[in-house]
Amino acid sequence: MGWDWHRPLEHDGLRFTLLTLAAVLVGGLVLLIPPYFMQGTVEPIDGLRPFSALELEGRDLYIREGCNNCHSQMIRPFKTETDRYGPFTVAGENVYDRPFLYGSRRTGPDLARVGGKYPDSWHWLHFRSARDIEPRSNMPDFGHMFEWQLDLSLTARKMETLRRLGHPYSDAEIASAERDARKQAAEVVERLQRDGVEVTDSEATSEVVALIAYMQRLGVDRAAAVAGGR
Ligand code: HEC
Repeated sequence: MGWDWHRPLEHDGLRFTLLTLAAVLVGGLVLLIPPYFMQGTVEPIDGLRPFSALELEGRDLYIREGCNNCHSQMIRPFKTETDRYGPFTVAGENVYDRPFLYGSRRTGPDLARVGGKYPDSWHWLHFRSARDIEPRSNMPDFGHMFEWQLDLSLTARKMETLRRLGHPYSDAEIASAERDARKQAAEVVERLQRDGVEVTDSEATSEVVALIAYMQRLGVDRAAAVAGGR
C-alpha cells in the first residue's frame, strides 16, 4: 500500500488543480463567513469617543492632502517605538477610524500620539511652512489650507452614515454638527490668539483649523486609558 493512495490525486494535472482550488475556496469561506455574522470583532477601548464634527472634517482633509503617505498612525509594540512615541497601538482605539489610517510609510514621524504634544500655534506655523520650525524638513507647505474655507455642508450626513456603521453619534450631535464644529473652531482660534498668533477672519474659518483640531485629538483617548490603568 505504502504512499500510493495519493497518486491518483496528483497524476492528473487538471483534477489536482480543481481539488486544490476547492480546498482553497473552502478554507477561504471558513475564514470569511463568520465575521459577517459578528457584531464587532474588536471592542472599543474604555472611554473611546468618536471624532467630533470638526475633527471628522480635519480627518477627511488629512486624507485629501495625502498626509498618510508620509505619516503612519500605528505604534508597534517594540521598545524603540514606545520610547519615542508612547503606548503602542491597540485595535480597540481605532474602531471609529473609518477608513483606518495606520499607513505604511514614515517619511515623517508616526502621528498616533501627537495630540497634545504641541500647542495649536506650533501646528499653525508648521503647516504654513515646516521649514520655519525644522529647516531640514521635507514636509510640504500647506498654505492653501489657510485660505480654503472649511466646508461643513456634508458633516451631518457623514456622521449619519458613520452612525449606521456603528459610531455612537446621538441625534442631537448630528443635528448640531455644523454649529458644534464652528464652536470648536472658535476655541482653536482663541487658543491661537492667546499664543500671539494673528488670525484673520478668513483664516479663522479655513480648513487648517479643522486639521489642527484633528491633530490634537490623535491618541488622546488611548493616553487617558493608559494613565487610568485601563
Ligand atoms: C512628503 C512627506 C510629508 C507629507 C506629505 C506630510 N508630512 Fe508631516 N512631516 C514630514 C516630516 C519629514 C516631518 C518631520 C520634520 C518636521 O517636523 O517637519 C513631519 C512632521 C509632522 C508633524 C510633527 C510630528 C512630531 O511628532 O514632531 C506633524 C504633526 C505633521 N507632520 C503633520 C502632517 C500633516 C497633517 C500632513 C498633511 C496635511 C503632513 N504632515 C504631510 C513629512 C511629511
